[in-house]
Amino acid sequence: MQTKKDIVNHLLYNKPHMPVQPSATAFASSNIALCKYWGKRNHELNLPITNSVSISLGQYGTQMTVQQADTNHDVLTINQQQIPDDQTAYQRLHQFLNLFRPHKDFYYAVDSQSTIPIAAGLASSASAFASIVQALDRLHQWQCSQTELSILARLGSGSACRSLWAGFVEWHKGTLANGMDSHGVPLDDHWDALRIALLVFDQHPKKLSSREAMQRTVETSPLYAAWSTCVSQHLAEIKSAIQAKDIVQLGQAVEQNALAMHATMLSSHPSIVYTQPATLAAMQRVWALREEKQPIYFTQDAGPNLKLLFTAEMTHCVKQAFPDAIIV
Ligand code: PMV
Repeated sequence: MQTKKDIVNHLLYNKPHMPVQPSATAFASSNIALCKYWGKRNHELNLPITNSVSISLGQYGTQMTVQQADTNHDVLTINQQQIPDDQTAYQRLHQFLNLFRPHKDFYYAVDSQSTIPIAAGLASSASAFASIVQALDRLHQWQCSQTELSILARLGSGSACRSLWAGFVEWHKGTLANGMDSHGVPLDDHWDALRIALLVFDQHPKKLSSREAMQRTVETSPLYAAWSTCVSQHLAEIKSAIQAKDIVQLGQAVEQNALAMHATMLSSHPSIVYTQPATLAAMQRVWALREEKQPIYFTQDAGPNLKLLFTAEMTHCVKQAFPDAIIV
């Protein structure tokens, strides 16, 4: 079986050996999946069972600055705070950086600045891994393509491979065992009037990571077999709705996709329930608005918070119904 290190060596072996730059900075936006990635065919390489499609969150993301550290260990600072080496964030980054050190005594100083509002309840791992691979590419002057960087970001966190581009991005699952064809591909479409709002009910880090939840779902849910059939249908509907700028078609497919994903989790053993009473109350509020012919839809990831989907002319209505919503 191939390891992450094999993939990195394969991708970087023919890149120029250039001097390390004094420092390099890059920014990547966070992304929200419209059609979800839920289930891996290869856990080590984060290779998915199905394609997925996301929308980028513009200025909400992570800016990473990397340089060679003058210490004998990696140094990680997140929003001006140095992270102790026993924390998960440090260990995840340290292990990821192990894939790229030019020699074993090379350590990195990484400064991460998040532009995602602290209260937004958005996972920052996608924008973090997408921005760090871009910053490393500049630091070491590898001159990788965006597609190659998408493959490298995927090794850090699957959904990060969709954060290399603005707008709509499809993650092609690929079929190769080494995952060289599993990466983001930007869609040509633009939809300026599309809006996302974040409804935050709980800011605590989730008790069950999406990594563990995904694996348990694939291994134990009797509904998982139906998930890939649902995804093919939802993907086609979502892509054609984006092309036609049809919020009703898009919203329906996006909402069904999120609910189908949560149905696979509910039917896992032990059951996985991210939904809280406040989540359900907000879903019911959205459905009530739709009864009044307001085209507002939701999606939900591996947590209790909701993301609303609507077009610009509904902004006022969303603000009225959900005064605490963070509109992107
Ligand atoms: O990339 P991960 O391991 O954080 O998983 C992301 C899973 C979802 O957010 C639920 C779906 C997705 O496609 O982003």
